[in-house]
Amino acid sequence: MAIYRRFQDGMPWYLARYYWWAYLWDKSIWFFDHQPIINAILFGNYRKLQAMTLPHVTTNPMHQVLQLTCVYGELTGKLLERLPQGMFIADACVDQLKLALRKTANRPNPLHATRLNAESLSYADNSFDQIIVFFLFHEMPHDARERCIAEIARTLRPGGSLILTEYAPLPEKHLLYRFPLTRWIISRLEPFLPDFWRHNVRASLEHSLQQHGKSLGAEIHADCFASFYRVTSFTIK
Ligand SMILES: C[S@@+](CC[C@H](N)C(=O)[O-])C[C@H]1O[C@@H](n2cnc3c(N)ncnc32)[C@H](O)[C@@H]1O
Repeated sequence: MAIYRRFQDGMPWYLARYYWWAYLWDKSIWFFDHQPIINAILFGNYRKLQAMTLPHVTTNPMHQVLQLTCVYGELTGKLLERLPQGMFIADACVDQLKLALRKTANRPNPLHATRLNAESLSYADNSFDQIIVFFLFHEMPHDARERCIAEIARTLRPGGSLILTEYAPLPEKHLLYRFPLTRWIISRLEPFLPDFWRHNVRASLEHSLQQHGKSLGAEIHADCFASFYRVTSFTIK
C-alpha cells in the first residue's frame, strides 16, 4: 500500500498524496519545525519574508484576524504578539494546530484553533477583517486553490485585507528557474508550483469577490530574492 494512504484520514487528497512527508507525519512535523530547516527551504529568506509580512498586519485591536493554515517556524507567534485581541487559525491537520498552540502557549493573546479545510471554511460571510496566507496557495491544485480563494472572498469583510506571502509570478529570469536541474527539483518537490506561477490570483480573487457584492481595492506588493517570492496586501471594498 502506498504510504500516503495512511495519512488520508479526512485530509484534502493532495495534502495526503504529495505532502504527507512534510506536514502530516509526526517525525516530519518535529523535523521541519526548526528555524534553520524552514529557512533553508525558503533559500534563507524566512525571516526576510516574515519581516515583509508583519508590517501589513492590522493594528486595530477590534479586528478579527485569521491565519489560514499553520506554518513552521516563528510566524504565528510573531503575528499573535501584534494582536492583543487574539487570532483565529485554521488547518486540516490537528497535529499542525497542536504545534501552533504549543508554540504560542506562553503568550497572553488567545489563539483560536480550528480543524478546517481551507476550501470550505465554516465561518460566516464577512467574518474577518484580515486573512493571512503564508505559502499555502502554491501547494494546492488549481481547483482547490480557486475554492480557497472563493472562501477568502466570502469570509473577508469589505474594508478588510488579504495578506498573501507566496512565490512571485513565473520567475523566468531567476537562476533557480533558468537552470533546468533546479527547476526540475523544485517542480518535483512542489508539484503545483508550476501552475501557481501562472495563476492570476488577483483575477480569481476579483471574480470571487464579485459573487459576494464586493470588489478589490488597492494592492501593494514587494518582492524578495530577485522576485522569486512576493508579499502582497489586497484591500477589499
Ligand atoms: C501554509 S502551508 C506551507 C507553510 C510553509 N511551507 C511553512 O511552513 O513555512 C502548510 C500547512 O497547510 C495545511 N494545509 C494544506 N492544505 C490545506 C487545506 N486545504 N486546508 C487546510 N489546511 C491545509 C497543512 O496541513 C500545513 O499545516
